[in-house]
Amino acid sequence: MRTQILASVSLLAAGAYAQACLTTAEAQLVADNFQALIDQPFSIPLAEAALTEDYVDWASGVNTLINSGCAAPLSLTGPTFTNRTDFIKGQSGQAPIGFQILNLWNNCDTVMLRWRGTNLGGPTTPAEDTTGMIVLEVVQNTSSTTQPWQIQTSYSEFNSGAWLYDLGVFKPTNCTS
Ligand SMILES: *[C@@H]1O[C@H](CO)[C@@H](O)[C@H](O)[C@H]1NC(C)=O
Ligand SMILES: *[C@@H]1O[C@H](CO)[C@@H](O)[C@H](O)[C@H]1NC(C)=O
Repeated sequence: MRTQILASVSLLAAGAYAQACLTTAEAQLVADNFQALIDQPFSIPLAEAALTEDYVDWASGVNTLINSGCAAPLSLTGPTFTNRTDFIKGQSGQAPIGFQILNLWNNCDTVMLRWRGTNLGGPTTPAEDTTGMIVLEVVQNTSSTTQPWQIQTSYSEFNSGAWLYDLGVFKPTNCTS
């Protein structure tokens, strides 16, 4: 019994030791995939390779855009997309926007980036740029040689006020210039 317990403990330890960690290059690939889903013509094969099937996207800024600044129909505290199919349905109809990565960080299972959006669409000129932060939680896919890490959850917030301005939804009345 004691030997068995010791054996299980050492197996657990070996398992923990073998746990993989994202490399900087792999984090860059995850970020590049996310960027391409936003700034390139939408690719369903890329979405299926880059995101897990149970992908969940949390972005109250996107919910505000979808709601045109109102508090409904999407809850501002709820997810934007609750699975990959739902994401593909929502995102595939969007025109690509300029999505520049300004900073990139990672730890073993998370990729964090700061971005700037340009040419967001809408009638207002000159447009206001939008800056945002995104945290991507990833899981390893050991059977894939091309996409070793897939995004399982994203948490994203950005300046939705500027974006609503570009879309002509938000019309400020007290600008000095
Ligand atoms: C994906 O999410 C949508 C919207 O919440 C839901 O209607 C659909 O059943 C979900 N599909 C799967 C496969 O979970
Ligand atoms: C992992 O990658 C393999 C090979 O590309 C793919 O067939 C499989 O669907 C992926 N697993 C998941 C959970 O997406």
